[in-house]
Order: sequence, then C-alpha cells, then structure tokens
Amino acid sequence: METQRLVVDNNVESEKSYTQAVNLLAEGEIVALPTETVYGLGAVATNEAAVKKIYSAKGRPSDNPLIVHIGTKEELSEYVDTISEKAVKCMDAFWPGPLTMIFKAKPNVFAKSVTAGLDTVGIRMPSHPVALKLLQALGMPVAAPSANRSGKPSPTEAIHVEQDLAGKIPLILDGGATGVGVESTVLDLTKEIPVILRPGAITKEMLEEVIGPVDQPTHIEQEQGAPKAPGMKYTHYAPNAPVYLIERNKQIVQEAIQYLQTKDYKVALIAPAFFKELSPDWFFSIGNTQDEMASHLFHALRACDSTDAQIVLATATSTEGVGAAIMNRLEKSAGGKWYTPNNK
Ligand code: TXA
Ligand code: MG
Repeated sequence: METQRLVVDNNVESEKSYTQAVNLLAEGEIVALPTETVYGLGAVATNEAAVKKIYSAKGRPSDNPLIVHIGTKEELSEYVDTISEKAVKCMDAFWPGPLTMIFKAKPNVFAKSVTAGLDTVGIRMPSHPVALKLLQALGMPVAAPSANRSGKPSPTEAIHVEQDLAGKIPLILDGGATGVGVESTVLDLTKEIPVILRPGAITKEMLEEVIGPVDQPTHIEQEQGAPKAPGMKYTHYAPNAPVYLIERNKQIVQEAIQYLQTKDYKVALIAPAFFKELSPDWFFSIGNTQDEMASHLFHALRACDSTDAQIVLATATSTEGVGAAIMNRLEKSAGGKWYTPNNK
C-alpha cells in the first residue's frame, strides 16, 4: 500500500484532503491525523473491521484498549450512560483538550476491539483544529491510539508516522508538529476518588482545582498494583539503544559521559539546553521549561535512532505539574533504569 502524506494548514487548499480523509474513514480505512498531543491513527469506532486494522498496523497487543475521539460534547450521552457532575465540570474546564475520561460504556455501541473487552471506555474531545474539523465533518466517533509502531515513542510530527507506518496505512494528514508533545491525561472517573491512570498536560493540580481530590499513583505504586491504564504495562517509548535516567546535574552527567567514553561507548544525551557544553557523542536538547521538554521529548528519543549511540542518558526532572508526565514517559523509556557507574 502506498502511504500519502498531505499537508493541511491554513496556507494550502485543504478541503480535498479533508474529504479524502473523511471518505477513507467512512469506508472503513485507517488514517493518521494530528492532535494537540501526538499524532493518532484513527478508525471509525463503531466499525470492528476498521478498528482491527489499527491493531495490526501498529503491532498493538489486543488487550490494550483505544481512546475514542469525538467532535462535539453533546454526543457523549450517545456513548455512555452516566455523566457524573465531576465529569461535566472536567468537560467544561478542559474539553476540547488533552484530557481523556474513562466512563462506563453503553453496551454494543463501540466495536468490541475499541474497549478490548472492558465495560469502560476512554473518550476525549481533542482541541487540534485539524482533528476537530475532521471529526465534525465525519460525524462519527474515531478510535485513535498514538500513530507509532507499538513500543516506539509517540509521533509528534507527520514524518515520525511515516517512519513507523509507511506502506501500512493509506493516508497521513500532516498538520505540522503537535504542541503538547505527551499524550493526554487519562482520568478514571468511575472511582469515588478519580484516579489519574496516565499523567499528561492536564495536571493533578489543575484537576483538583476543578473537582477536588484526585489520586495520582506513582510509576512505582502502579508497578506494585495501583490502578493503571492497561497499556501502561507494555514497553514504551524505547529507542534502539538502552536509556538510563540520570540526575539533572552537569557534573554528574559529564563524569558519566567521560566514564562511558573511556569504556568505548558512544553516548547520546537528552537534556535541557543548558547542558550543551558537555561532550557526549550526540546531544539532543529538549529546551528549558517543562512545557518545552514535554513538547520535544519524543522527538529527542526518536532522534537517538538516527545515531550509532550505544547508550542514551536522559536527565530527570521534577514531578511538579507536567513534570509528572515527562518523568512517567522517561521512566518507561528507560524501563526504570538509572545510571550508576557500576551498572555499566
Ligand atoms: O493524547 C492521546 O491520548 C493520544 C492522541 C492520539 O489522542 N492517544 C493515545 O492513545 O495516547 P494510546 O492508545 O496510545 O493510549 C491510550 C491509553 C492506553 O494506556 C490505554 O491502556 C488507556 O489509554 N485506556 C484506553 N481505554 C481505557 C479504559 N477503558 N480504561 C483504562 N485505560 C484505558
Ligand atoms: Mg500510545
């Protein structure tokens, strides 16, 4: 299959591209589209055969449910029975935007593979203009996981989708680089105290201002049995070379680089811009503020695969605000490993 990549933005005549995407989706095909978080790989969420194509194109395990994207708030009541007061408050405050909410699903509405056998479903209304326009033109809910091969960092640019899925999907709508850079916050509202299953740009602090107390189990607590999204148990965000977390301290990082280089390792460093005078074999800056880091993280992890690095060092950050999402992705990317001179 040939994969077309069509640029859609205000500077080009895009109507034809939208029509093509809508037609493909309506016919049961899968299409990659930009959202404000990462690129998604979409299929009509009520079409089982179409949704199955997502799993096969991504190589995704079948027990990992998909997020359903909607173009209007009103249609939510067609898909779920109960919309709690807290859910309404969250919709008012954060939709359209990077918040996925888990609801009890109405039976027999979505294709079985969307929910992977659960009686709940994750739903969000994205704020990216391309995603919104497409959803509204289509008039149907779209199941869309991140548009990467399973295990790889999520795509924040159309070219990343092409790297992973060329030949496997008919169309990528190219809306440029996504803004947020980490996937949506997943919030389980079926619990008495809502639980953050996956941290994102809508932070615990922001949620608590709107709905009161929210639980956010740490990565370690989730490993030990606290609630987590089914997908979070799989390998994630992994470049080819092993990733090690390291303290955000220039001297410690420089000593690590020198030590590894004396052992003939080629080292890639992912760190804030002010680490640039250090001497790794490759340096990928992820900016300075936490928002910049979230936005550049997956690009940096992917860029490591275009080098001969044998080891990737990634500096840790604080878990305040969106830092919780950054550290969650980094810990998964590193498989929980921290650098010490003795483990190399
Ligand atoms: O920002 C995003 O959420 C992106 C864009 C494309 O919208 N999508 C995305 O989808 O990250 P995906 O499939 O890569 O991640 C979905 C996560 C998985 O960890 C999955 O296990 C969890 O949401 N999830 C989906 N349905 C769930 C449910 N019913 N209960 C608990 N977790 C669920
Ligand atoms: Mg994903």
